[in-house]
Amino acid sequence: MLWAAIFGCALVLATPILGQSGLGPAQSSPENSYKQTCRKIRDRFSPASRVFYPGSPEFEEDIAHWANSSSQVSACSVEPVTPLDVSLILRELAKTRTPFAVKGGGHATNPGFSSTRGVHISMTRFRDIVINMESETVDIGAGLTWTDVYAYLVPKGVNVVGGRLQGVGVAGFILGGGYSWKTNQYGLAVDNVVAYELVLPDGRVTVVTEQDEDIWFALKGGFNNYGIVTKFTLKLHKQTDVWAASLNFAGDLTEVAQAAFVRFLNREHDHRAAQLGELTYSNGVLGFGLTLFYDGPVPPDGLYEELLDLPSTTKSVSKGSFSDFVSSIPTSTKNRLYFDGVPMLHYTEPIMRALANETRFWSEELRKYDKDVIVVYNLDPFEPDYLTHGETSAYPPDRSLAVLPSSIYFGWIDESADKYMADAMRVSSATLVEAGIRDGQDLKDAPPYSNYALFGTPVTRIYGAHVERLHEIREKYDPKNVMGLAGGWKF
Ligand SMILES: Cc1cc2nc3c(=O)[nH]c(=O)nc-3n(C[C@H](O)[C@H](O)[C@H](O)COP(=O)(O)OP(=O)(O)OC[C@H]3O[C@@H](n4cnc5c(N)ncnc54)[C@H](O)[C@@H]3O)c2cc1C
Ligand SMILES: *[C@@H]1O[C@H](CO)[C@@H](O)[C@H](O)[C@H]1NC(C)=O
Ligand SMILES: *[C@@H]1O[C@H](CO)[C@@H](O)[C@H](O)[C@H]1NC(C)=O
Repeated sequence: MLWAAIFGCALVLATPILGQSGLGPAQSSPENSYKQTCRKIRDRFSPASRVFYPGSPEFEEDIAHWANSSSQVSACSVEPVTPLDVSLILRELAKTRTPFAVKGGGHATNPGFSSTRGVHISMTRFRDIVINMESETVDIGAGLTWTDVYAYLVPKGVNVVGGRLQGVGVAGFILGGGYSWKTNQYGLAVDNVVAYELVLPDGRVTVVTEQDEDIWFALKGGFNNYGIVTKFTLKLHKQTDVWAASLNFAGDLTEVAQAAFVRFLNREHDHRAAQLGELTYSNGVLGFGLTLFYDGPVPPDGLYEELLDLPSTTKSVSKGSFSDFVSSIPTSTKNRLYFDGVPMLHYTEPIMRALANETRFWSEELRKYDKDVIVVYNLDPFEPDYLTHGETSAYPPDRSLAVLPSSIYFGWIDESADKYMADAMRVSSATLVEAGIRDGQDLKDAPPYSNYALFGTPVTRIYGAHVERLHEIREKYDPKNVMGLAGGWKF
């Protein structure tokens, strides 16, 4: 379904491009017409904005992704620097029906979501950060990563609800929902947006706030369906030093630690606390990693003691700046890499066993295709009231169901294994959801998180009953389906 959305447009396109531009047969390939669109954009751009072609270092950087299975070689990359240049680009793309991509931080793990063979728009020059202490908000350019934002804000004693790991882009993270270290305190990233500066699909530049009921709702989870965001205005929160611990358990220690973590999760916690868990398997040994976070210099007595006292393989405890904490969390990528989202409501003993078994089973199975395969099963707990900090939004479809956005992630080298890996992921996610249902959890309509769900997931699973409204809003603001020329979840 999704692939049809991405590639379908490229196929339909060939005819209108030729029809409109009247090119002779020698120039009639889509690539040539994409190049021509690139030239037209360059000619009309304000001087500060730039167009780059394959071979230049700027081009290579523009089309690069965290997982390079998410990259494609486009006809050119464009780096607009003003909303008006974004508007000019969109109008030109609409006129020529040229497939395009919008890239923020390039962390999408679904191929084609921020890449194209047509015109690649890199938002990298939208880098301003402007604090407004009076309104306690900050304007953040859509080309920044959370690493950039924290480096600027944290030394000033303030911060926003942003990404948990280094390098993740501001734009895709916020536009998909945004699960943060501060989500237990303040909700999702979308719950902390005050305004979006948006270039609408027809090229008008506008600011979207709470007053704009429909598109305000749609932008909170609706990605690139409603135009191109150039700036986000976010609520500011105070930031002190933070406390964190990283624990790793291997082999025999894993089961004891998992049981302790289940007991821990069954209690209510100070909402400044947050955790992330992951299961891995190597050389016949199951590994369990835990990151424990507290948004303050010292966690309250009793909060983490039971977990800290467990016998562990490695343990490190630190106190320092929020930026240093985020940078200290390792992330590993591979040439090919996909995520899938697995909705869960509780991490119980049976779910822990199912997660451990899936980790072991697929690590062994996938090693037959790639001996260095990365296989990670993430546990992503939040407090039961985490969705009460915001109003209705495109994602999640139902705020009364506090879905935990667990994820699976596989990484490998060889492109020929892509299909096998995606299929394996789908089977494993379905197995885990079934295990949840057998465990008595109401997961029948539980959505996988939009930013983790694997390509091919029906949009109705992710956006539930909101799909119809999101489609109507899309028709209203983009009747010619200009944004349909870009990949991603489509309404
Ligand atoms: C290592 C890693 C850690 C992560 N950790 C978290 C986490 O803790 N919490 C969480 O919620 N998610 C997390 N994610 C998922 C992450 O939020 C998504 O991958 C997100 O989409 C990345 O945003 P980006 O700008 O880097 O991506 P991109 O690939 O640049 O863009 C993603 C999508 O957003 C669209 N888009 C980008 N910029 C714009 C714009 N200006 N206007 C309109 N549309 C735009 C793109 O077209 C694309 O469809 C993580 C991902 C990775 C790889
Ligand atoms: C992907 O990454 C590998 C290793 O870093 C590199 O050799 C390869 O050219 C990249 N492929 C693309 C499409 O960027
Ligand atoms: C482990 O997972 C595999 C794959 O899903 C499944 O076939 C097997 O029955 C599971 N084993 C147990 C003990 O649950």
